[in-house]
Amino acid sequence: MTRSEELKKLRDKAIPKAVFQVSPCVADHAKGSAIVDVDGNEWIDFSGGIGVLNAGHCPEKVVAAVKAQADRFLHTCFHVSMFEGYINLAAKMNDITPGDFEKKTFFANSGAEAVENGIKIARQFTGRPGVLCFRDAFHGRTLMGMSLTSKVAPYKQGYGPFAPEIYRVPFPYAYRMSDGDQKKANQMVLDDIKTAFKTLVDPNSIAAVIFEPVLGEGGFVPGDEDFFKELRALTQQYGILSICDEIQSGFGRTGELYAANALNIDYDIILSAKSMASGMPISAITGRANIMDESPVGGLGGTYGGNPLAVAAALATIEMFEEGELLVQAKETGEIIKEAFLKFKEKFPLVGDVRGLGAMVALELVTDPISKEPAAEQNKALAAYCISKRLSVITAGTNGNIMRILSPLNIDRAKLSEGLAIIEAGLESIS
Ligand SMILES: Cc1ncc(COP(=O)(O)O)c(C=O)c1O
Repeated sequence: MTRSEELKKLRDKAIPKAVFQVSPCVADHAKGSAIVDVDGNEWIDFSGGIGVLNAGHCPEKVVAAVKAQADRFLHTCFHVSMFEGYINLAAKMNDITPGDFEKKTFFANSGAEAVENGIKIARQFTGRPGVLCFRDAFHGRTLMGMSLTSKVAPYKQGYGPFAPEIYRVPFPYAYRMSDGDQKKANQMVLDDIKTAFKTLVDPNSIAAVIFEPVLGEGGFVPGDEDFFKELRALTQQYGILSICDEIQSGFGRTGELYAANALNIDYDIILSAKSMASGMPISAITGRANIMDESPVGGLGGTYGGNPLAVAAALATIEMFEEGELLVQAKETGEIIKEAFLKFKEKFPLVGDVRGLGAMVALELVTDPISKEPAAEQNKALAAYCISKRLSVITAGTNGNIMRILSPLNIDRAKLSEGLAIIEAGLESIS
């Protein structure tokens, strides 16, 4: 039995099965776009720990910053003793997030916590209970997070009752709604929202609309600039705040620091997490200063939010984005992936759609290009093939028929080609 198999056996005994596993890889160490497992095998990383490693595994600058901070102090709780890193990072986030207006930021530990806080702040500011959200959205696994999340199994089934006052409308998913006609999909959704405001909920009771600029778990469906512009105009008529969830689409994934930069999205609150600290757990809630200041003293925060090690990692990661070539590399990586995927689309009828923004690219598999029946089983087989070749991949989509790429943005070109060749061979094997 290999060491990985021994550890898997122990894992099955000690850890609930609900804590899912997409591969048998048991990491020993990792660098750049490679993970070496406890048996000495090298894996190519196309998952990035679910979008957390845009700057790669263990960037030297980030590791050095964390080590230096570990020598000074591990924790104070910002509410008890402030520290400079937290203050500097908040100021930095106010600077680097899109939008030229006065902002304030505070920190939590995970994406879901950022979502919870975004909703709390919007409710406090507006004095309203309602939240508008989208089909195929993913916002986390806490009570509010899973309530806002769209996919039922495995995220919601059996876990109710859910948070009340949540209203869901379709997302403009042009491939499925309007044969790729984006304008038409946008209009269908905007009409739906207007109808919802007459038949489902009083828009004057809605605190916020929360959206991902590019659906993440929902299948890498990019939203559209015109759609977000019109959504903003419509919701602002009723004083509804906009919460832009950039937890997966942020920190360079789309070729801009935020997808909101790429899509010109105007918002009130923006949520960051995942790649902002290269793997250290932290999330940021940034918003218009007057909105953020409406919450009373003590209403926001927590014991660990803005942990000093995570703050040091975030500051170093941001320096990498500011000083380095990560955004250029993101665009190049995205183009290489897209080009390969478009070739796969020509070659394999299974590939129904290739889409994405920057390096946030995905393949949607269908059993038939006309009916677009989701090819979930084939996608599972494709993922299993990749895993068997030690290419770490993760799927997406409410129907589980989407293969998404979340490799480091600066992935080694040879590894990127190798990984894409594995996907091609996998498609060959299931076609
Ligand atoms: C868009 C989005 N929001 C929220 C979350 C939840 O983040 P976390 O898993 O850190 O709680 C995720 C996680 O994948 C996400 O992609």
